[in-house]
Amino acid sequence: MEDSLLTTMPGTRDILPEEVAAWHVVEQAAAKVFSRYGFEEIRTPMFEATELFSRGIGGETDIVGKEMYTFRDQSGKSVSLRPEATASVVRAYLQHSMQRGAGLARMYYIGPMFRHEKKQKGRWRQFYQIGAEVLGSDDPSIEAEVIEMTLFFLQTLEVSARLLINSVGDGSCRPGYIAALRHELNRHQGELCDDCRRRTETNPLRVLDCKVETCQPVIAALPRIADHLCESCAQHFEMVQLHLRDAGIAYEIVPRLVRGLDYYVKTAFEIVSGGLGAQNALVGGGRYDGLAEILGGPRVPGFGFAMGLDRLVMILPENVKGLGKHPPELYLAYLGDVAFRKALGIARSFRHLGVSCYLDPGGGSLKSQMRQANRVGAQSVLIVGEDELARNRFPLRRMEDSTQREVTLEELEEYLLSRSSAASDH
Ligand code: HAM
Repeated sequence: MEDSLLTTMPGTRDILPEEVAAWHVVEQAAAKVFSRYGFEEIRTPMFEATELFSRGIGGETDIVGKEMYTFRDQSGKSVSLRPEATASVVRAYLQHSMQRGAGLARMYYIGPMFRHEKKQKGRWRQFYQIGAEVLGSDDPSIEAEVIEMTLFFLQTLEVSARLLINSVGDGSCRPGYIAALRHELNRHQGELCDDCRRRTETNPLRVLDCKVETCQPVIAALPRIADHLCESCAQHFEMVQLHLRDAGIAYEIVPRLVRGLDYYVKTAFEIVSGGLGAQNALVGGGRYDGLAEILGGPRVPGFGFAMGLDRLVMILPENVKGLGKHPPELYLAYLGDVAFRKALGIARSFRHLGVSCYLDPGGGSLKSQMRQANRVGAQSVLIVGEDELARNRFPLRRMEDSTQREVTLEELEEYLLSRSSAASDH
């Protein structure tokens, strides 16, 4: 077999069983916290018509211009793996006439996204997002509530984070700002990198996000969007901040915060975290009141965010990661073939009662089975030999303090069930 068949593609990886526990912690915390805020899960397809993304996210963005996995299916239609899920959620909202439902649509999603990005720490070509969207309201309190939910979620996972916000204006004030930006950029073409020179024409807002050292002096002197906001955007931004302050949420206004997707209007935000290094954006989001119309639907205001799950798991404290681990409650060590078959039966009946049991065929000596019990982190070991079976009395060793006592299967059942119910109370 070729070597390449035994290796994952660049930018993709296996999430191994020992790592998945941490992912479960995060996914379960999201479901718990988000449902308190009235969000329900939605699952949309992993691929959609390419045009949904090229129109929704914007043809001039890096995502659409360079990073989509696009192919033609058997019918010749252009299809892309989803690089994000907001466009899909808005499509689903329109397709299923969710505006007819009671109240606003509050939905969250968890799943893989695909972007053909340059390889870098913290950037994957298949990565995972947890995101949430609220559709149907342009009230600025939505921003504060959703941001509060996100920060609360991170707090439950003991992850420290900083909130950065900005207003990127809307259709009535942004064109004026972009014209002013382009005017300034045109005067400094000689000092800009190739990408920024190109962006001066195609997407001047993206220049604000450039990380190239030599562009920084020009960027620092560019006009600020805050000075170009129309009355309605300025007022909306004020109200968002008022609600954030009411909720006791600290924020930093970053006038140059622009996002890599074109659908944003008014509020844009990011949550960054220290442990992440250069790719420090953990969460990105904002308001996208025009997206439904861009996709051919009626006007549906929306606000939401997505967070990088890969990045979140990277910085999750070890004690929090550990909460997702569920080592076996009972390891069955057996001596001989007859005892093995009996041990299988004991494991079967305990498993049906809800107790997790571990045993392998060909277990070897008692000593090597004890070593394995230790390796798999079993809480207790039951020793099953022919004598023990005849007497219905079995040595039970508690691994945490190596104490051993003899029990009948009935006593063991009582003991294990009391332990598991005690554990699930936590
Ligand atoms: P985004 O900023 O493109 O926004 O992505 C959100 C987050 O996904 C980033 O902050 C980062 O943590 C993670 N992420 C993005 N690309 C990668 C990658 N290549 N590898 C690892 N993690 C990555 C959106 O996707 C918008 N749909 C967010 C949104 C929802 N806006 C409104 N609603």
